[in-house]
Amino acid sequence: MNNISGKNIVLGISGGIAAYKSVELLRLLVRQGASVRVVMTRNACSFVPPLTFKALSGHEVCVDLFEEGSGTSIRHIEWATEADAVIIAPATANVIGKLACGIADDALTTLMLAVTSPRMICPSMNTNMYENLVLQRNLDRLSDDGYFIVEPGTGELACGTSGAGRMPEPPVIVDRLCRMLSPDDLAGRKVLVTAGPTREPIDPVRFISNHSSGKMGYALAAAAEHRGADVVLVSGPVCIPPPVNVDVVNVQSAEEMASAVLSRTDGVHIIIMVAAVGDYRVSNPADSKIKKSGAGLVLELQENRDILKEVGNRKDRQVVVGFAAETDDLVKNARAKLLKKNVEILVANMVAGKGSAFGADTNQAQQTTLFTV
Ligand code: CTP
Repeated sequence: MNNISGKNIVLGISGGIAAYKSVELLRLLVRQGASVRVVMTRNACSFVPPLTFKALSGHEVCVDLFEEGSGTSIRHIEWATEADAVIIAPATANVIGKLACGIADDALTTLMLAVTSPRMICPSMNTNMYENLVLQRNLDRLSDDGYFIVEPGTGELACGTSGAGRMPEPPVIVDRLCRMLSPDDLAGRKVLVTAGPTREPIDPVRFISNHSSGKMGYALAAAAEHRGADVVLVSGPVCIPPPVNVDVVNVQSAEEMASAVLSRTDGVHIIIMVAAVGDYRVSNPADSKIKKSGAGLVLELQENRDILKEVGNRKDRQVVVGFAAETDDLVKNARAKLLKKNVEILVANMVAGKGSAFGADTNQAQQTTLFTV
């Protein structure tokens, strides 16, 4: 799902305090397999020396307009031509103003006039500057010109105030780059994803749950959003950050997940049920903390509703995708679930070995399909 690997990215850095975050942004891009060339304004060099970016990118940093590129070409033209995407982070009010007016008086702004690939701007400045009408007008103009604008975050700013203007954190910028470089083939489609475990209470301090980390469901929700879908993610309790630009509905128990999903399926085109839903709940959870009695404890469990089966039975031309975590007879069990739950695709996960199922960054799966979508 990483569409950054192997890409030529130009990272433009202008003179704002958030330039220190661009160091981490560069590292993330390189780690994802991109080849990154850095172009800095003279002011940016006052915040972080070019040597830092040179060491981390493995390329010379372009600051001067009249440096020579390889062969006979001029470096900023060569880099502009070869770029698959350009990110300007941080983008100061000055650089935004120049780009909006087509002014090219240094290496970065001149390079931008020669770029034909997708371009992203990450504004970063004091709140009053960001809310200034001139700046907003310039951003609107860049947006109309096809620039992808990443809205700044809100919070504590370097100038001591608090408000809009913070440069988004590097992982968010990388995520927005994935969005910018993805096809828009799910635009106009609504996708509902479930993720994570559920928690079934035993008493106010204990619960029954499972090892699901939520990573698979969150990655699928992000991938659908990158392709332009309108995504709702119904999530059990997890410890990973929410996907950008996805409507997250947090739930705890299987019953809460069932209500959240079943009340949101109208108008949805694709439903992907990745959550590891608890099959059982405690019949009578205690209102107070259960104390040790020295005589063991027997819990009476009752079965939860099968959310996927209910979705499969009531669907109306929707594509429904289920997941199956199995320890034995992978394909046989997955096929049985495909038919029993009336879904189009069942992704069969073997819960075994490194790099598969719960908690890993990779997964191994087999797909059983009723028909191809
Ligand atoms: N699922 C669901 N509601 C449940 C249990 C499971 O919606 N109460 C969904 C899961 O989100 C997954 C699929 O059904 O997409 C298969 O889940 P899995 O736990 O593998 O299967 P179960 O139906 O629970 O069967 P078993 O535990 O007996 O293998």
